[in-house]
Amino acid sequence: MNLTEAVRQRRSIRQFLDKPVPESLIKEILTDALWAPSWGNTQPWEIVVVSGDVLATFKRENISALDTGQAFSPDVTIPEVWPASLKKRYKDVGKSVLGSLEIAREDLEGRGKYYRQMFSFFDAPVLLMFLVDRDVSLEYAMLDIGSIMQTVCLLAQDKGLGTCILAASINYGKIAHKLLQVPDNKRFVIGTSLGWPDTEAQVNQFARERGELDEFVKWVK
Ligand SMILES: Cc1cc2nc3c(=O)[nH]c(=O)nc-3n(C[C@H](O)[C@H](O)[C@H](O)COP(=O)(O)O)c2cc1C
Repeated sequence: MNLTEAVRQRRSIRQFLDKPVPESLIKEILTDALWAPSWGNTQPWEIVVVSGDVLATFKRENISALDTGQAFSPDVTIPEVWPASLKKRYKDVGKSVLGSLEIAREDLEGRGKYYRQMFSFFDAPVLLMFLVDRDVSLEYAMLDIGSIMQTVCLLAQDKGLGTCILAASINYGKIAHKLLQVPDNKRFVIGTSLGWPDTEAQVNQFARERGELDEFVKWVK
């Protein structure tokens, strides 16, 4: 797969096969991903690879927290308010995801079930959690985390693996700190599920949308 194909073909995977990912493959992806650029080559990222029993417990505790209405405790604030035009895109992708799962807007039970799936990281066999030290300015470190996160997703794509970047994975920060044994001087910035995509699943097939080039790009000569 060439790079353009990897960029174009990567999509968020929300249903995975029940098939383990060899540790050697994860190691290969992460070793290559370390070549992602960072400010001043500071490489401020840390990555926790979560699988097995700990992942199972993380999913279980997240769902229990969700079901009992526990307050979110992310280390990085996830914005709730978005400008209208961006909010529309966000709503549109939500409609596409739920539509592909045949969950109607008014089907609160179905939506709740889907939400629980998201907080179980769509049952991926692996979750990669990206962290930075609290001593590092978060505003700037976000760029570096974004850089390595997308690099990981593209390298995974190249190996036939699927990913879904998941803000949902950091919502219950306190649970993550406890279970992954990460001290409070580190922040969980984002997590990414990783596994073999179920290519038959409709939720992995719906048509995705992007704006036109002119919406985003201005040429100045
Ligand atoms: C920072 C970030 C957080 C995200 N969090 C979630 C999430 O919590 N749940 C989810 O289903 N998708 C999440 N996504 C995936 C986006 O919805 C997805 O990237 C977007 O709709 C574009 O679709 P594509 O990845 O299939 O191209 C997140 C993506 C990013 C970059």
